[in-house]
Amino acid sequence: MKNIDITYLGHSCFLLKMNGKNVLVDPFISGNPLANNINIEDIKADYILITHGHGDHVTDVEKIAGNNNASLISNFEIISYYQNKGFEGHGMNHGGKFSFDFGHVKYVTAQHSSMLPDGSNGGNPGGFVLWTDNTCIYIAGDTALTMDMKLIPMTCPKLDLAILPIGDNFTMGYEDAIFASDFLDCDKIMGCHFDTFPPIKIDHAKAKELFAKQNKELIIPEIGNTY
Ligand code: NI
Ligand code: MN
Repeated sequence: MKNIDITYLGHSCFLLKMNGKNVLVDPFISGNPLANNINIEDIKADYILITHGHGDHVTDVEKIAGNNNASLISNFEIISYYQNKGFEGHGMNHGGKFSFDFGHVKYVTAQHSSMLPDGSNGGNPGGFVLWTDNTCIYIAGDTALTMDMKLIPMTCPKLDLAILPIGDNFTMGYEDAIFASDFLDCDKIMGCHFDTFPPIKIDHAKAKELFAKQNKELIIPEIGNTY
């Protein structure tokens, strides 16, 4: 069986290869100068997962969904918003899981906000737990450290990797991500939502060192690389 390939496209955008399908998460590429080596016209997506409605997570949804005829997966309000614009999607809500052809998806709580860029109601923000027969990952979306993270190891398969925001200011920072790692029972963390804007620039060496001291691994992904 194949693992999940994860390609980092900057900020909180990841392209996952799961069971032969391309699953894109939180596309924000054209608005991210750090990702100017990524051409959104080249991106192949069967599905687009949207954690919440903020612009730095949805900017390229319509372009990429239009190019690929991709199906959107998010909370009910965000899916309704895009369905009204003619896109196809599958609405979920917190605590619910559903099986797709690429794997299983559970939409879980995030402590954040979710208004869409035009002021429309983006529902409540969330994260995704995704799993196949042999691999399980958590994509937290934008969130504070929250006690609800303790529910994930109780209700989902054992995590192989958790993708957590580490940039602070708008989300938890890397110090809190260490507590999240404990709550999630997962010592392998990949960071996101760092360096894109001045308030979320972080010291990479310091962040990694803090994790290493707790015998945990922090992967700080490089844009364009596959893991
Ligand atoms: Ni946000
Ligand atoms: Mn954000």
